[in-house]
Amino acid sequence: MRSDAAASVQDFYERYPYPPPVEDLDRYQSLWKDGRLRRQEHHLSWPARPFRDDHSILVAGCGTSQAAKHAMRWPAARVTGIDFSATSVRCTEELKHKYHLENLEVRQLPIERAAELGMRFDLVVCTGVLHHLADPLAGLRALRRVLEPVGALHLMVYAPYGRAGIYMMQEFCRRVGIEATDEGIRDLVTILGSLPQGHPLRALRDAPDFHRAAAIADALLNPHDRAYSVGQLFELLEAGGFTFSRWMRQAPYSPHCGLAAKVAAATDIGQLALSEQFAAVELLRGTMVRHSLIARRDDSPNHNEGINFDGEAWLGYVPIRVSDTLCVQERLPAGAAAVLLNRAHECTDLILPLDQREKRWFDAIDGCSAIGEIIAAGDDRAAARTFFERLWWYDQVVFDASGERAASDYLAAPISTRCSLSQ
Ligand SMILES: C[S@@+](CC[C@H](N)C(=O)[O-])C[C@H]1O[C@@H](n2cnc3c(N)ncnc32)[C@H](O)[C@@H]1O
Repeated sequence: MRSDAAASVQDFYERYPYPPPVEDLDRYQSLWKDGRLRRQEHHLSWPARPFRDDHSILVAGCGTSQAAKHAMRWPAARVTGIDFSATSVRCTEELKHKYHLENLEVRQLPIERAAELGMRFDLVVCTGVLHHLADPLAGLRALRRVLEPVGALHLMVYAPYGRAGIYMMQEFCRRVGIEATDEGIRDLVTILGSLPQGHPLRALRDAPDFHRAAAIADALLNPHDRAYSVGQLFELLEAGGFTFSRWMRQAPYSPHCGLAAKVAAATDIGQLALSEQFAAVELLRGTMVRHSLIARRDDSPNHNEGINFDGEAWLGYVPIRVSDTLCVQERLPAGAAAVLLNRAHECTDLILPLDQREKRWFDAIDGCSAIGEIIAAGDDRAAARTFFERLWWYDQVVFDASGERAASDYLAAPISTRCSLSQ
């Protein structure tokens, strides 16, 4: 039997679909003509598996355009989008017809009933959905039932500390009776304009996306949402039968990156279990609003998907530069030959200075050479290992650890076009 919470969330998204419907995906389509992006994304999920682009993909809670985008970026894949909002399904159907997306199927279906599709998927994408469910664990278990044993789950859920102002304003709306109506949204826009300096919502209010009525409604008038701290998220994954694989962007969680590496307790944090390290850094940063991660079934046979710098295997890893990376060579700190940053990072402290030798190694990354081929015979191996591990933690590279040579059209020499992989 459906809960009242599910019915009110469905009603909300039928009236206020989010993200707002889009008619034009031309730019998105042309960005993803670059096959190197697909190779990069494949190895983010499956470092140790040879490249494939013909996966079966479920976009669970697909909203207005996410399933259509996946069908565009993976033309050889079979993509299924499900959402319980009729508006989301209609918007997705319109994009399917406009862009002749023959590889896309859309169904109006709650994610809790995903098994009714009668299919298993290599990749399940579920972003911005589970936290709206009355029973997120039931939703997660339903997704596990349709995931192939070697498959990957891309999950995004809200994080609590950066959203403190949002939860205050949600409660304000409940107390004074501001509801999810056009009039309620207009009132709220006026109220947000007069928030005092220092209000926890001010920083979010000033974010570009937050100026749109649809974003304000989704964040502040949503009938049901909850957020997960890192600790709560790891508990949810375990209860749902999943193991954590990696963060989509891992530098903000690492005690070895940016400001976390410089605090007095950095060494103590580094001695905790990995999930405890992430939980500590989340508290240290204090501003995270969401967690995006890749998880696998806890019975997945591909245990060795993880990147590991113990032993010698790392010498065979092929580094692939990620599309959001930027190599700055002007106004450098003393002693630096370049500074690397990732434009998708929201924290500004995650910059990585390179010395001359590291710059030479970085410049030699061409998407086909393994680390062992990049470093010269006389190079210090320990220094090289530290450097390539750091590049990986800083989200500058993903690794092809499959041991297979890439086809030439998928070689990841620097990608000039900016394209975020997280959508
Ligand atoms: C914030 S939107 C995110 C859309 C999309 N995943 C994205 O990232 O662009 C949440 C979507 O999840 C859908 N949704 C929420 N609960 C659901 C459920 N139990 N089953 C299916 N869809 C659901 C809503 O209708 C809405 O379209």
